[in-house]
Amino acid sequence: MNATKNILLLPGDGIGPEIVAEARRVLEAVSVRRGGVFRFTEDVIGGAALDRCGEPFPEATRQAALAADAVLFGAVGDPRWASVPFHLRPEVGILGLRKDLGLFANVRPAVVFDSLVQASTLKPEVIRGLDLVIVRELTGGVYFGEPRGIEDLGAGERRGVNTHVYTSSEIRRIARVAFDVARTRRKKVCSCDKANVMEAGLLWREEVTALAKAEYPDIELTHLYADVASMRLVQNPKMFDVILTDNLFGDMLSDQAATLTGSLGLLPSASLGVSDAKGFRRAVYEPIHGSAPDIAGKGIANPLATILSVAMMLRFSFGWNEDADRIDTAVRVVLDSGVRTPDIATPGQPTVNTKGMGDAVLEALERPPEGRS
Ligand code: IPM
Ligand code: MG
Repeated sequence: MNATKNILLLPGDGIGPEIVAEARRVLEAVSVRRGGVFRFTEDVIGGAALDRCGEPFPEATRQAALAADAVLFGAVGDPRWASVPFHLRPEVGILGLRKDLGLFANVRPAVVFDSLVQASTLKPEVIRGLDLVIVRELTGGVYFGEPRGIEDLGAGERRGVNTHVYTSSEIRRIARVAFDVARTRRKKVCSCDKANVMEAGLLWREEVTALAKAEYPDIELTHLYADVASMRLVQNPKMFDVILTDNLFGDMLSDQAATLTGSLGLLPSASLGVSDAKGFRRAVYEPIHGSAPDIAGKGIANPLATILSVAMMLRFSFGWNEDADRIDTAVRVVLDSGVRTPDIATPGQPTVNTKGMGDAVLEALERPPEGRS
């Protein structure tokens, strides 16, 4: 028997509410199959929280996230809040969530679906069969380093400061995640840094190398400077299995990897904390695309990245690999059958809206495997 799992939904801004609604329907379908295992609550974050509570990461949301078994997050950010003071920006919502829940490990798979090879801007032979994972450090580096701020030097001169900083233990714990993920795949890790320019990058390389030698002799470890990795990602992305990198390079490389697949609308992610004595780890699941204010409210956003994030939740938080596989398969079946939201359609191809895509996935989930083509 499964104990009830408390799922916190944080739809956020822009297309967030539309895509989270479809992902919730998928979670509800899983829940029904398992005898009503999920309990859902919803809270505000980002701009939506600014509107309602005057701050992007209200204490009530923080407490709800700390108490949840897993969090499903939509997106934050909207041009309406572009000029609010820095500490009130909608992005503070997601950054606070990551920091306060200790979500140091961000796992971002980038997979090219066969039926969408044409949607990529890269040549089909370069990306067909692409399947890589970026493991990005998420609570350290320049995103959170101190000192930081904008200083007034007088006479119209100002100084902006951020600090890129990593400790050995921060590097080792994220490297372990990458090595463990690689063990479930092709056993290759490419660690990306700027060891040629930054001391923190040199430390990164030394710690990763030492850990691999001591504990992961079965993993093939290579290193690339982050700029070279970025070049290789468009030149020969299939050379990668697991990419291990820091917070800032991971932000950039994961957008780039996502674009290779044809649409940002397809890529899920998991942000994971440290496992406690009982094996529980806090986790937030989110699509890697943003709030897409240009299409928000139109009901045409692609919900697949959020639906695939649900599959990651079932896998990483609950160990329900079979349910996760069923969702992954349903998405593949839907794409193979030609169902398209506008972002992944070729010119002239008929499209469905956000709800239509949700319906298609639910229908594929309910169809028995032998009924699938
Ligand atoms: C991401 C996003 C965030 C980041 C923003 C919204 C703060 O770009 O998850 O990649 O920079 O980490
Ligand atoms: Mg990003």
